[in-house]
Amino acid sequence: MSIRLDHLNLTFADGESRITALDDVSLDVAPGEFVVVTGPSGSGKSTLLAVAGLLQQPDSGDVVIGDTSTASLSARQRSDLRRDQLSFVFQSANLFPSLTAVEQLELMAHMRGRLDDAARSRARELLEAVGLSSRAGHRPNRLSGGERQRVGIARALMSNPVALLVDEPTAALDQHRSDEIMELLASMTVRESIATILVTHDLDRMDLATRQLHQVDGRLTPVA
Ligand SMILES: Nc1ncnc2c1ncn2[C@@H]1O[C@H](COP(=O)(O)OP(=O)(O)OP(=O)(O)O)[C@@H](O)[C@H]1O
Ligand SMILES: [Mg+2]
Repeated sequence: MSIRLDHLNLTFADGESRITALDDVSLDVAPGEFVVVTGPSGSGKSTLLAVAGLLQQPDSGDVVIGDTSTASLSARQRSDLRRDQLSFVFQSANLFPSLTAVEQLELMAHMRGRLDDAARSRARELLEAVGLSSRAGHRPNRLSGGERQRVGIARALMSNPVALLVDEPTAALDQHRSDEIMELLASMTVRESIATILVTHDLDRMDLATRQLHQVDGRLTPVA
């Protein structure tokens, strides 16, 4: 299933004038595609993800998840769809200090009401896929920044989301760790057949993107 942004517009009041955060943004991301959006600070990148992630409503336009148009859904229906079909990764993994790496993942299944054997083995399998099998029993204070981001990525995949929305995942990491996280996101996108949209300032590993876009004043343009 894909995620499709259809003619999204969003402005914010700014004193007497308005800031354009999304200017007629359309984007269709298929399963297994790794779309990377770059752009200056304030160009609307985080807003793009917030709207795509059904956290914020646009002034006009639609977000279509699979076959489901979300424009006329209730707040409750949008939040159910978000929980079931969408996942997020941010600059900081925001892990629970008291839980081990594998427990961070199991908690996702628990909150959905089914921490069964399948969920436990999915958690182990995802930790292995992100290269952290040997850290499964470690709490966040015994993980490096890059390892914490890996746990956050594995956790985001526990629900088998349609789309993964990633905001500046490497901003707090050194270049070597940043490259590893970008490589991991690219490979997990293919492995899990997810539609991934990543926004970043970091131009280093653009070769990993299946498509690269640039955002300025809310407007998205393809990078040739
Ligand atoms: N809730 C809001 N109310 C008013 N203005 C907002 C709101 N959210 C964002 N903005 C403004 O909209 C513009 C786009 O913000 P956004 O956070 O999407 O930019 P960004 O590209 O993610 O920037 P950065 O690279 O610094 O994270 C900015 O000018 C910001 O101040
Ligand atoms: Mg931002």
